[in-house]
Amino acid sequence: MPGGSAGRRRSNPFSGRLWSISGMDYGVSKPKSNTTLKVFVAVSLTVLCMVMLQHSSHSVYTTHHELPKHKEGVQHILVTGGAGYIGSHATLRLLEDGYMVTIVDNLSRGNIGAIHVLRQLFPNSNLFQFIYADLGDKRAVDEIFKNNAFDAVMHFAAVAYVGESTLDPLRYYHNITSNTLTLLEAMVANNVNKLIYSSTCATYGEPETMPITEDTPQVPINPYGKAKKMAEEIIRDYARSSDLGVTILRYFNVIGSDPEGRLGEAPRPELRNHGRISGACFDAAMGIIPGLQIKGTDYETRDGTCIRDYIHVTDLVDAHVKALNNTQSSKVGIYNVGTGKGSSVREFVEACKKATGVNITVVFLERRPGDYAEVYSDPSKIKNELNWSAEHTDLAETLAVAWRWRESHPDGYMK
Ligand SMILES: NC(=O)c1ccc[n+]([C@@H]2O[C@H](COP(=O)([O-])OP(=O)(O)OC[C@H]3O[C@@H](n4cnc5c(N)ncnc54)[C@H](O)[C@@H]3O)[C@@H](O)[C@H]2O)c1
Repeated sequence: MPGGSAGRRRSNPFSGRLWSISGMDYGVSKPKSNTTLKVFVAVSLTVLCMVMLQHSSHSVYTTHHELPKHKEGVQHILVTGGAGYIGSHATLRLLEDGYMVTIVDNLSRGNIGAIHVLRQLFPNSNLFQFIYADLGDKRAVDEIFKNNAFDAVMHFAAVAYVGESTLDPLRYYHNITSNTLTLLEAMVANNVNKLIYSSTCATYGEPETMPITEDTPQVPINPYGKAKKMAEEIIRDYARSSDLGVTILRYFNVIGSDPEGRLGEAPRPELRNHGRISGACFDAAMGIIPGLQIKGTDYETRDGTCIRDYIHVTDLVDAHVKALNNTQSSKVGIYNVGTGKGSSVREFVEACKKATGVNITVVFLERRPGDYAEVYSDPSKIKNELNWSAEHTDLAETLAVAWRWRESHPDGYMK
């Protein structure tokens, strides 16, 4: 088990129990009459605690040995947020394609179960490691970069719920904007000059004209979109003055799961209220929640509900691999990743009913703060420049695959 956490009780993500090193209780010492001995013990323990605390503040935890620094002909990709939904699917694809992958994740939102699946799929591989660390911990991030020789970074790690960002904006600016800066600084210090950045259509806000192109002005209307836009600007400014090659991918709404059923989307139950539509549909179909809440039926759209562009996670991952192969030193590429087709929430729910075979109960509510009426992409730039286009565009089919995973994993990765 990873060391260096002594002197502090903390939540162990690997077992869900509280843990402390060695079970020592520093507050209790045997009664002794010898004052010299007491002073000696007190001083020793103080020094020990100081060393342990200093060490614990920047320790990183790995699930196994470190990877070789260099492997002939193999690119080593750092995947931040790889225990999460999109990052785990990206890692699977990278490993299948023969890349070496290091995942860094603090498991605040992701699933250690996804890491276990990846480990089982690549059991004897010395091409994959998981490091439990927080990207806000600059010393831990520096240590990770020093101990590895990354060729590129795919930066997925983020808190990513629009509604939550309106309730807790500072968390979003820290987690998204500030952590991206920390990551960039570590890249600079360690000569890693290729970055694929996970951005979002939320950076555009509510544009007057559809579809959204990469030149559509970015006027985000919630802290999530603003934090991502700021991170983009930091990255672009740095790329202008350095040899950093970066591709910024602005995803639209990501759905679906691995067509072979190895991975799925399993957000934390406590995030249900902020959650994404497919998760809510499946929860309703499984009877975990009584029905579906559609927030806002008076938008200026064809049926009054919000319109979104739903992109399959496998297609999205494919865009990342293409971006990785096309990112050039000192160049910034910015691409929308969407289907180019909008579907309304009502249409989505109908597709979900078809996919699950359940006549889900639907309740109509007021609008949710921070939501915008209609968002869909113009994906022609990524098609022309990276030869990428979405292949999985049938909503009901996509949801049927995701539903199969969810139905067979009612407790997510806990099963
Ligand atoms: N899901 C979507 O529809 C969507 C749309 C547009 C953009 N994005 C972006 O894609 C990326 C991945 O999203 P996702 O849906 O997979 O989310 P997710 O919550 O499933 O995964 C995010 C991962 O990042 C980790 N993480 C968060 N903060 C961290 C930190 N400080 N240090 C280390 N790890 C941390 C979480 O534990 C989690 O595993 C995010 O950047 C998100 O903004 C997602």
